[in-house]
Amino acid sequence: MSRTIGILTSGGDAPGMNAAIRAVVRASIAKGFKAVGIRRGYQGLIEGDMYEMNARDVSDIVQRGGTILYTARSKKFMTEEGLDIAKENCDKFGIDSLVCIGGDGTFRGALDISKKGVKCIGIPGTIDNDIACTDYTIGFDTALNTALGMIDKIKDTEMSHSRCSVVEVMGRRAGHIAVNVGVATGATEVITVEKEFNLAETCQKMLEQKKTGKRHFEIVVAEGVGHSEDIGAYIQEHTGIETRVTILGHVQRGGAPTCTDRVMAARMGCYAVDLLANGLTNRVVALKNGHLVDYDIVEALGMRKNYDEHLHNLLSDLSL
Ligand code: F6P
Repeated sequence: MSRTIGILTSGGDAPGMNAAIRAVVRASIAKGFKAVGIRRGYQGLIEGDMYEMNARDVSDIVQRGGTILYTARSKKFMTEEGLDIAKENCDKFGIDSLVCIGGDGTFRGALDISKKGVKCIGIPGTIDNDIACTDYTIGFDTALNTALGMIDKIKDTEMSHSRCSVVEVMGRRAGHIAVNVGVATGATEVITVEKEFNLAETCQKMLEQKKTGKRHFEIVVAEGVGHSEDIGAYIQEHTGIETRVTILGHVQRGGAPTCTDRVMAARMGCYAVDLLANGLTNRVVALKNGHLVDYDIVEALGMRKNYDEHLHNLLSDLSL
């Protein structure tokens, strides 16, 4: 039976991480365990930067973006020496279990420290929704709605000036944000790494639509594709339509989490503590068809994420 549960957030932050921290801390205490917050992810574990958390330490954070435990990407943790120091600190603070909130890199770290004898559970938290074993990652819905709000505003001015807007949204390796906000904001085209694209055809389509009276256009580009400025320049050159490029950037990682993210964080956080209470280790919490399940970390890391091609293909009917 676990006695002391360490909690950390690692990799890129995501709205809803605080709600997940709160859930893990409160569920741990409710089950009679001690909760220890580790600052700056695995780096804090190496530096022994941690403190016991009580129920009040997580008051008033459910609605806040970012992570009160801070986050980092630790190179030292990837070394044998770093892992040994981290394990020593776990022993020093009596930590026998860890709940690690983040993405694939976070889960790889959890796997490494679990080999030293620390029980680990991963909770998926990243705005990209790019973790293969789960349909949903904490932060995705908030990021979608942030990007949506920004694009709605861009469309007001794009419409007034009869321009084309190229908007780059986050997603280093994945186009899930792009395709969802593209459909939700009525984009002319969405460009992602998962699906082949042809800019010449896009320009042709825009010119045909212009002939039918369409006056303004929106192209959503996933960050992983890159070259948004070049894409904008190409479109302007080949259509003659004045084009502006906006890179939304880190604004998408901030802000108060939506209801969906808060509820998901609560569910996943409690589920993670239940797994530890039942003596399980090396598991990743995942949402599958609306239900929480869990996978072995190695199995989870070996999965491939599906891209919603069907959603992407709807654009050809919707953007006329
Ligand atoms: O993992 C989420 C994410 O926001 C990606 O979409 C993006 O490419 C990356 O993090 C940016 O990371 P950083 O904040 O280190 O620049």
